[in-house]
Amino acid sequence: MPVAGTGGVSTSYNRLQQLKSFDESKAGVKGLVDSGITKLPQIFIRPPEELAADNQTPSHFTIPVIDLKGVSGDRSKVVAAVREAAETVGLFQVVNHGVPLKVLEETLTAAREFHELPQEVKGEYYTRDKMKKVKYGSNFDLYRTRYANWRDTLFCVLGPDPLHPQELPLVCRDAIMEYSRQIKVLGSLLFGLLSEALGLNPEYLESIDYAKGHSILCHYYPPCPQPELTLGTTKHSDPGFLTILLQDHIGGLQVLWQNQWINVPPVHAALVVNIGDMLQLISNDKLKSVEHRVVANHRGPRVSVACFFTLDNYPSQRIYGPIKELLSQDNPPLYRDTSLQDFNAYYYNKGLGGNSALYHFLLQR
Ligand code: OGA
Ligand code: NI
Repeated sequence: MPVAGTGGVSTSYNRLQQLKSFDESKAGVKGLVDSGITKLPQIFIRPPEELAADNQTPSHFTIPVIDLKGVSGDRSKVVAAVREAAETVGLFQVVNHGVPLKVLEETLTAAREFHELPQEVKGEYYTRDKMKKVKYGSNFDLYRTRYANWRDTLFCVLGPDPLHPQELPLVCRDAIMEYSRQIKVLGSLLFGLLSEALGLNPEYLESIDYAKGHSILCHYYPPCPQPELTLGTTKHSDPGFLTILLQDHIGGLQVLWQNQWINVPPVHAALVVNIGDMLQLISNDKLKSVEHRVVANHRGPRVSVACFFTLDNYPSQRIYGPIKELLSQDNPPLYRDTSLQDFNAYYYNKGLGGNSALYHFLLQR
């Protein structure tokens, strides 16, 4: 009998049972690795047709690296570089971004230390409760995906209501609070540059509420015994307005550009910036929310810290749609208006993979 959540694919093993026992272990993928497994459990294995269709042709496209030192000098040059990257590939790296190297290093270390805590301590934070501001888990869409990802995550909502530091696990408390402070400043700078790139006044994007909140996701990708059979993160675009990602030196992040997967190589002291679905929606497709994924790796663990600028679990009734100033007869709105609550509910319920959540909000499909 087909199992719910497998897209109607009949399964010859008790998949739901395996998902449940994995979930109930509260130990994540790290727990499986610690138990000494040498073969990938079935719930992580990608369907054969998906594996066969995976296009691994190497490509020579290089992800842009933008030096933000220029903002205090020839700002228009930086705006032009941001515009070019945000309108085409939708993802770029930034250097001289103002977040001290020490803060980057301490954030990665803290994220890693959380995931390497004894199971009894870490397990306290394990939950699928949507309203919790600090939660540890593995595969938010575990029961809805065709295969699980080789990744664990600590998810923290840091605004608009201030998060009380006591709610964060002690090992990563100070580092996450400090990173949050620093990343907010960089977020403001980037929203200013993106506003100008869209031809709006520099305060425009920051003035529309969501920049008041951000969520920080500390991802942990344990070494994988059979990396070619699964993924660290399934193909997806990000739900929020903007994402700033800090990755360690291992690599594995790829972006889909003209139908090919391009590596986003770790660059020392750099941060990766990508446009999210909501910014594509309000810019009426001018800025691109690019699809990306993370491949699994024998080497590891790989640690990354993503910061989503959006409002998670926040009861804002504000309605977002294509920005009026950008519309004209030749550029009619492509998307219908939505609240962040509706968009996020649709996104998280759909889970990673498949069509972008943006399709659901198109006016004409
Ligand atoms: C994400 C994401 C990539 C990474 O958190 O949305 O794409 O390298 N992360 O962990
Ligand atoms: Ni992402």
